[in-house]
Amino acid sequence: MIYSRITGLGYYVPDNVVTNNDLTKWMETSDEWIQERTGIKERRYFEHGKDTNYSMATAASRQALERAGLSPNDIDVIVYATITPDYFFPGSAFLMQRELQMDGKPVIDIREQCSGFVYALSIADQFIKSGMYKSALVVGSEIQSSWIDKSTAGRNTAVIFGDGAGAAVLQTTKDPGHSILSTHLHADGRFAEDLYVKEPGSSRPGRTATKEMIEEGGFNVYMNGNAVFKHAIVKFGEVINEALSANGYQSSDINLLVPHQANIRISDYVRQQMGLSEDQVINNIQRFGNTTAASIPIALSEAWEMGKLKDGDLICLAAFGSGFTWASALIRW
Ligand code: COA
Repeated sequence: MIYSRITGLGYYVPDNVVTNNDLTKWMETSDEWIQERTGIKERRYFEHGKDTNYSMATAASRQALERAGLSPNDIDVIVYATITPDYFFPGSAFLMQRELQMDGKPVIDIREQCSGFVYALSIADQFIKSGMYKSALVVGSEIQSSWIDKSTAGRNTAVIFGDGAGAAVLQTTKDPGHSILSTHLHADGRFAEDLYVKEPGSSRPGRTATKEMIEEGGFNVYMNGNAVFKHAIVKFGEVINEALSANGYQSSDINLLVPHQANIRISDYVRQQMGLSEDQVINNIQRFGNTTAASIPIALSEAWEMGKLKDGDLICLAAFGSGFTWASALIRW
């Protein structure tokens, strides 16, 4: 049997720190409201002319490759998750592939919103387990600060999201004791419009982007915060338990849970539901906000840097987001 193993992790966040107080320059909000509802203290915003979606992904990937002791040409495939690509098409994976001079290597761009990284990891894991590829670069990268409406009208979503990128190198192994044990993926399109950006949609009369569409707010993020919250707290628990029971484990076997950084209240709820201590759950939403597909690889990279990923540990990744989507990965480190 062939398995895949994460052999390198990396991340990049822009230098530009935007605190909750900074947001009060653009919208009616307060540090107290944001911290109480979301746990977020600050987030990073990209700097035009310095950062792009793919440049951040490239920086994260270079760090992951260096830590894996590999060069870009040792990689067989790129799987790149983002909902905020540099171009409408082609995807940002092409731009990163060009930057890393991996000419001819296949790239796969996916969306899957806040579950994007776990979906991407699962795709790469299947390629490796099937024997088709021996190594993969799995990336999540987002520039959301240019999408969000920073006026008071957009404050219920604007305060949540941030920019950043994270990456993981996957390599083939024959040792199941140091490998990805399973991935579980789910979606429910009945809730597609509970968290979405409508434009630039193609199924419309006339051109895809007009001044009227911008004025109507179709380019802004719409979120039914209450519906997202209610589903998230149920689905996180379900998909973690699914991963555990598929492998014959229970929640007390988890050494570290790395949840998508949606909201500190969601993470706390899931932590309590699983009977885990604060030390067993990674939370960095306070510093980076919700970076969608980038949040899990950034958090996982930080966990590695802090020495929290120990040889043989049982690590669980779990995500929930727009779609709705939800997903988990169980890893023997
Ligand atoms: N600052 C100050 N006030 C704000 C605000 C902000 N940034 N955003 C909204 N408000 C106001 C609302 O206008 C509303 O005012 P009103 O009572 O006068 O109408 C009040 O705060 C409560 O708004 P509501 O939307 O009901 O707040 P909430 O308690 O449900 O919290 C969220 C909003 C978004 C924090 C919450 O719904 C949530 O966490 N949802 C999950 C979101 C999430 O995790 N998304 C990521 C998914 S991957």
